[in-house]
Parts: sequence; structure tokens; C-alpha cells
Amino acid sequence: MRRFTFNLLAVLIAAFALIQLVPIDPPENPPLETEMPLPAEVRTLFLRSCYDCHSFETEWPWYSKVAPASWLIKREVDEGRAALNFSAWNRFTAQEQQELPDKIWDVVLSGKMPPAYYLLLKRDAKFSGRDMGILRAWYADNDSGRRSVSAP
Ligand code: HEC
Repeated sequence: MRRFTFNLLAVLIAAFALIQLVPIDPPENPPLETEMPLPAEVRTLFLRSCYDCHSFETEWPWYSKVAPASWLIKREVDEGRAALNFSAWNRFTAQEQQELPDKIWDVVLSGKMPPAYYLLLKRDAKFSGRDMGILRAWYADNDSGRRSVSAP
């Protein structure tokens, strides 16, 4: 039994070492393009809670260099940047830019963003009642007119 445990451990360690060799694009922060124009206090909130996955200013944690975490994090950031990149606001069409505040308000209000697992890793990324007030005021000034503001 003890021998089995030892062998299993050896296999796991070897597997862990081997998966480090799987080549993936390294985590990187490309040069900033045009940043989404935001009032300073709203930008501070997004910087804290969203920029890790939705900008070119990602703070890569040390374990983002260690497989298999590196694979998951890289994919999450790639998908996040593809959906919304605060550092490359210029890539949206004028209409998309106009509708962005609606989308942002929706995902934060519904609790879809920031993702729950991210909040486990970074507690202070959670929107407090005060943060929601700041976001709501910004949204009220910037909603695309597609519909009226719903209360938080
Ligand atoms: C841990 C990574 C991560 C963080 C942090 C994060 N997001 Fe996301 N976000 C994603 C990923 C991945 C997607 C694309 C897949 C999806 O829609 O779930 C996404 C999608 C979105 C979308 C597009 C949704 C749609 O239906 O088109 C919006 C808008 C968005 N996020 C806003 C935010 C805002 C605002 C914050 C901060 C309050 C935030 N996200 C924080 C990973 C993240």
C-alpha cells in the first residue's frame, strides 16, 4: 500500500513536471491602444475589478506561469479581452461603444461580472454598495437610451 502511494506520488510529480513543457504563448500585456474614456473614480473601480481580464494591464499572478493554472488563466484573459478590452476601446464600432455602458451595467448588476471564482482569489474586487452607487450614476449619464435605468 505504501509502495503504491509512493508510486502514485512519483507519477503525479513527473506529470506535473512534464506539463510545464507544453508550449503556450506566454502571458503578456501588449501596448495600450485607446483607453475607454471614463471618469477617474469609475476607472478606479474597473481597474480593480475588471482590468485583469479586460485590458492590456493584466496583473499576472505568479501561478499564471505554472501549468495547468497558466492554461486556464491565459484562456480566460484571451476570452475576456476579446469580449471587452478597456485598453483597446478603439476596436469597437461607434454603436458598440455607445452600448457598452448598458452591457457593463447589466453584467455587474446581475453579478455575472466579476466572475465568482475571481472574487474568491481577489476579495476586494467585489462591488460594494458605494461602488454600485458610483457605477449607477455613471450609467445614468451614459446609457445608450435603449431603455431606462433600473434600480440596483
Ligand atoms: C477573471 C476574469 C474576468 C474578470 C475579472 C471580469 N471579467 Fe468580464 N468576462 C470575462 C470573460 C472570460 C468573458 C467572456 C465570456 C463570458 O461572456 O462569460 C467576459 C465577458 C464580459 C462581458 C461581455 C458579456 C456579454 O454577454 O457580451 C462584459 C460586458 C464584461 N465581461 C464586463 C466585465 C466587467 C464590467 C468586469 C468588472 C466589474 C469584468 N467583466 C470582470 C472574464 C472576466
